[in-house]
Amino acid sequence: MADSHPESPQQLSLEQKRALYRDGFVVVKNVVSKELVEAARARMKRAKKGENLGPTREMTDLVNASSITPILREVMGQFDPPVSCQVGVLKKRAPGEYFNNLGYRDKDMPYYGAETHADGSITIAAPQEVQEGTPEEIYRRYFASGPNGDLGRSPDVIGDNTVPMFEDPDMTLGLGSFTAFTFVCLNDQLEEGCGQTSVIPGGHHALAKFFQKQRDINNCIGPEGPGWPRLDHEAPNRCGLVYLPEEVKNQFLDETSECTPDGKRWPRPTQVLMAAGDACIAVYQIPHSGSRNENGSESRKNIIFRFRNKKRQPDKIVNGVTDHADRGQMGEWLDYEEGNDPWERSKYAMCNMWHEWDGMQEVVAEEEAKQA
Ligand SMILES: [Fe+2]
Repeated sequence: MADSHPESPQQLSLEQKRALYRDGFVVVKNVVSKELVEAARARMKRAKKGENLGPTREMTDLVNASSITPILREVMGQFDPPVSCQVGVLKKRAPGEYFNNLGYRDKDMPYYGAETHADGSITIAAPQEVQEGTPEEIYRRYFASGPNGDLGRSPDVIGDNTVPMFEDPDMTLGLGSFTAFTFVCLNDQLEEGCGQTSVIPGGHHALAKFFQKQRDINNCIGPEGPGWPRLDHEAPNRCGLVYLPEEVKNQFLDETSECTPDGKRWPRPTQVLMAAGDACIAVYQIPHSGSRNENGSESRKNIIFRFRNKKRQPDKIVNGVTDHADRGQMGEWLDYEEGNDPWERSKYAMCNMWHEWDGMQEVVAEEEAKQA
């Protein structure tokens, strides 16, 4: 492994693991060498218009050739080396008039337009006209506008983001899942408002608990399970995605929370401040969002990887970018051997957050003992 940073730590410290447990994310400083950062930035500069840089060596090397690989192997466990990633470039811009995925005007959304969400959720382009009709009509129209056309309510409905409406044929699992995020930072984002990834510290505990509650009620997990409607018809465009259940959001509201013009309060996310070469490791369950780059001196460049512990499905290769690996990247149905129920395994991992973090077990035991 070509690591030009032989001195950089090969595993998280105990303190970092405690932070990961408590907050759901941890920033590892200087984990990617200058050479790897520069190679990735140079590759971005050379990109042709519209080129997908996700599968390029310069991007995947940010993990495959850096200390991120040994660190993740130690703290999480085995995973497939990424062959792709999400290239999160956000150009500097002013607040927009458009309706965002939550159904609000971008300029009205607090916290630099954060659309805080659980990952693995179907997203189709937000209607830019205020929707008319009954909730059922709006729902039907919205999901019919996706790439697969009008299939009604169906696990074959796929979003513009390639995520299925439901992972499973029985429509009991409305979210894709994985184990860990890694956000690799390629430009300095040390002041707020530069397009940072933002997170709700501690939100992972609340979301995992919420999944457990859904499991215990009727084992329908994610949107369209108990307490989590898919669409918010009260939103200004009458067709906002409910990216986080109300019950989770409410736990993070206080008198400092900012409102949209309709008086609704939104939890304040923490902008993850990083410098080029830093990376943020986060658990799947962390509520998070990109944010508007209003103040940056350049475009925000975060390269986003998603990892799934190999033990969830040892025979399946995951590519480093998908948030719904129980299905193919475009929602294809995969074969599983007799007795292997991928949806139940994923539900288990969603509810039992640390099950797939092999190197966190001591810290988890210590923290749980404290709480007990
Ligand atoms: Fe996301």
